Amino acid sequence: EHIAQSFPENFLWGGAIAANQAEGAWNEDGKGPAISDAFRGGIVGGTFDDTIDENKYYASHEAIDFYHRYKEDIALFAEMGMKCFRTSIAWSRIFPNGDDAEPNEKGLQFYDDLFDELLKHGIEPVITISHFELPLNLIRKYEGWKSRKLIGFYTKYAEVVFKRYKNKVKYWMNFNEINHFHTIPLAAGGIVVQDDEHKLPTIYQASHHVFVASALATKLCHEMIPGAMMGAMLSLSPIYPNTCNPDDVFDAYELRRRSLFYSDVLLRGYYPSYAKRIWKEHSIKVQMEPGDEQLLREHTADYLGFSYYRSTTHKAGMPILGNTGGIMGLDNPYLDKTPWGWPIDPKGFRYVCNEMYDRYQKPLFVVENGYGSHDEILEDGSIHDPERVDYLNKHLIQLHEAIEDGCEVLGYTWWGPIDIVSAGTGEMKKRYGFIYVDKNNDGSGTLERRKKNSFYWYQKIIESNGKVL
Ligand code: BG6
Repeated sequence: EHIAQSFPENFLWGGAIAANQAEGAWNEDGKGPAISDAFRGGIVGGTFDDTIDENKYYASHEAIDFYHRYKEDIALFAEMGMKCFRTSIAWSRIFPNGDDAEPNEKGLQFYDDLFDELLKHGIEPVITISHFELPLNLIRKYEGWKSRKLIGFYTKYAEVVFKRYKNKVKYWMNFNEINHFHTIPLAAGGIVVQDDEHKLPTIYQASHHVFVASALATKLCHEMIPGAMMGAMLSLSPIYPNTCNPDDVFDAYELRRRSLFYSDVLLRGYYPSYAKRIWKEHSIKVQMEPGDEQLLREHTADYLGFSYYRSTTHKAGMPILGNTGGIMGLDNPYLDKTPWGWPIDPKGFRYVCNEMYDRYQKPLFVVENGYGSHDEILEDGSIHDPERVDYLNKHLIQLHEAIEDGCEVLGYTWWGPIDIVSAGTGEMKKRYGFIYVDKNNDGSGTLERRKKNSFYWYQKIIESNGKVL
């Protein structure tokens, strides 16, 4: 049985969102269109429009209007007691086309104001530089990360934001869920894949560009902001073999390694030995320039940020894509599921923390964990969300166990502390929040904010530093 204990002193309790899922104001104050602005129905199952048609509904265009309402929202986060808040900078607010000569001052000013507001409440900003929101022009003109030119555009963007926010932001991350390059290449990397034959070579080449860009940004971050930390960010689900048949076990292991390919490179600083075989079997020749490998070695990430929602179960012969496997996993009869079919596996959370800490011995930062579900406002105006509270409690108990196991964990940011647009499906009704937002899937709603029961519970957790669990 779990014995309630407190979390480490200065543990960073918080919440996390991404610019494109919350801000809205998609074309205000000089912002250019981002890839996320051209998706209808989410980036996993939705449609990507080559041309944005203003007569159609795009969830990111208004989202929850965080761009104009962030002060009200941050006051609520502060009331919950949050110590940190993760969001992303929308690249297309800073460089509307991605390849502009000069940054957009109004975009820079917005994040200055946002970070000031957080700091005013004693909330530490935790910032993702690129969260599935590449400027659209970089895809149209350069085919996204397929092009080596993006390294230059990205490092220029990173340099601008480091310079501007160096006194405000200490925790940084380069690319959100970078291992999704394999699952959703277009949404995650703006990688246009023509056909299956070109898919893997294209993705590995684009990944190399992202590795070099990450190393260069890490270098700049360390040079420009003393004491800052740069993280890598992965989507992580433990992968269980479906049976003890050695074929299932080895296949699951193989899939696991491929999902850790990105953290292996970013945290260790070199390509793992197993990559050579994959490249050989698929006739992949990654083009590198002299000095690239040295950069990777010299500028590794300081911590591993990751999202954890669920586990996955794998059987020999199922496709190995190099992602978390979660998307095409088998049913696990031991686990319940969320209304969106995601297996609920608190112990898997402890498993993943230990697995990552054993592998890298670098601090972990849980920058996403959450429960997406329907919510209903009762007649008296209250919103009861016991399943969310249950998910939160069970996961935090396992996180605490992982810390007791010896894992160094910097903090925990709940995904979507306020309801936002779902990345996967583009829906509003897949709600993660402790704060309800009156907005529906068709875009209607007053955008009014309202506390759910879980709001008060998370407040208690933070206040007691986890002792109430
Ligand atoms: C992660 C992403 O994949 O999961 C977030 O980093 C996303 O952007 C979150 O919102 C939850 O997924 P979804 O599809 O329920 O929004």
